[in-house]
Amino acid sequence: MQMSNRISAFQCSPIRRLSPYARDAVKRGVKVYHLNIGQPDIKTPPQVIEAVRDYDETIIAYGNSEGRQELREALPAYYAKYGLSVQADDILITTGGSEALQFAFMTLCDPYDEVIIPEPYYTNVSSFAHSAMVTLVPVTSKMEDGFALPDISEFEKRITRKTGAILVCSPNNPTGHVYTEDELLQLLTLCEKHDIFLIVDEVYREFCYDGKQFSSVLAFEQFSDRIICVDSFSKRYSMCGSRIGALISKNKDVLANALKLAQARLCPPDIEQVAAHAALKTDDKYLVDVQAEYEKRRNFIVEGLKKIEGVKCSTPKGAFYLVAELPVDDAENFATFMLRDFNLNGETVMVAPCEDFYVTKGIGHKQVRIAYVLNTHDLERAVACIDAGLKAYRTQVMGE
Ligand SMILES: Cc1ncc(COP(=O)(O)O)c(C=O)c1O
Repeated sequence: MQMSNRISAFQCSPIRRLSPYARDAVKRGVKVYHLNIGQPDIKTPPQVIEAVRDYDETIIAYGNSEGRQELREALPAYYAKYGLSVQADDILITTGGSEALQFAFMTLCDPYDEVIIPEPYYTNVSSFAHSAMVTLVPVTSKMEDGFALPDISEFEKRITRKTGAILVCSPNNPTGHVYTEDELLQLLTLCEKHDIFLIVDEVYREFCYDGKQFSSVLAFEQFSDRIICVDSFSKRYSMCGSRIGALISKNKDVLANALKLAQARLCPPDIEQVAAHAALKTDDKYLVDVQAEYEKRRNFIVEGLKKIEGVKCSTPKGAFYLVAELPVDDAENFATFMLRDFNLNGETVMVAPCEDFYVTKGIGHKQVRIAYVLNTHDLERAVACIDAGLKAYRTQVMGE
């Protein structure tokens, strides 16, 4: 039977599509270090798990489409810690940041409208754009510039009557770039000039390194009418499976219209919202420690990768990913080889090929995204596997 043209055009996620090879490797007794997915090994705060255990409703009922009121009312205090003024009414609780991104596309854009995005970008955005029949228009950011904001004129050149929004992610997945206040101001000024929206995905807000202060788009109150901020509990409290996020906007029309989508999907998961509410009571030290742990891992992996001949990467300033350029002909073949044909003393790694983190064809095919979500002991093993795997691939596959 025929499937829709729309779904046929969707990609299989480059973060997950090699998983069958990883499962086969495990069946063969090979240990796989998962650097492909942003699934941290950090413990969820214990009171989050306790809140799930203590959930004492007798019926798991549908809740408000906007999200549990007590969660919406608790969130402003979290933002206030960063000097950001967000009210409960500015917040729509969503099923992960993923749903907030989908709501943003559907609310701002008609079919065939365009969203401008720096590439490489968080690859799942491609599927959200396809669902909304929105075209992603890329502006390429470059490793040699640390994936900083390309010249603002590159964005302006791409604005047409069809442009609904610019979407950026800060701290960035996959590049680790943290947008400066000045970069955000340039983007907002451009959005104002052309009367379009700026969507900023801030799900990695806490994870900034080298003493760098994070600049949130929510601080730009003079532009608040054209801002949507995407947020999530997933990475912050290492509770990715609980699927709670938020769409935040001071623009009441945005929220009123996004609510129509929220009503159609009824409500966000209820038990998970109780867990998210408990997460907000987490001691600040938890996030300080997690940030320090990721910074340590960042330093460790960058140092390890830079020692491997032919590997290039820039030093990420935030989030927990980096893009590495490998001395191979095709990063997807290499990633498959690592899982299917290679092991170092019974161990190997899974990485995400980067080609589909770009809209532009022909770039990124030698790049992989690495998520440094494992402890430094495991990262050390993983780097050794990449080093040995590259040598084996170049001899056995590239015939060097
Ligand atoms: C940049 C970015 N935005 C949004 C998401 C979605 O997160 P979730 O739906 O788990 O909140 C992710 C997940 O990896 C991400 O990396």
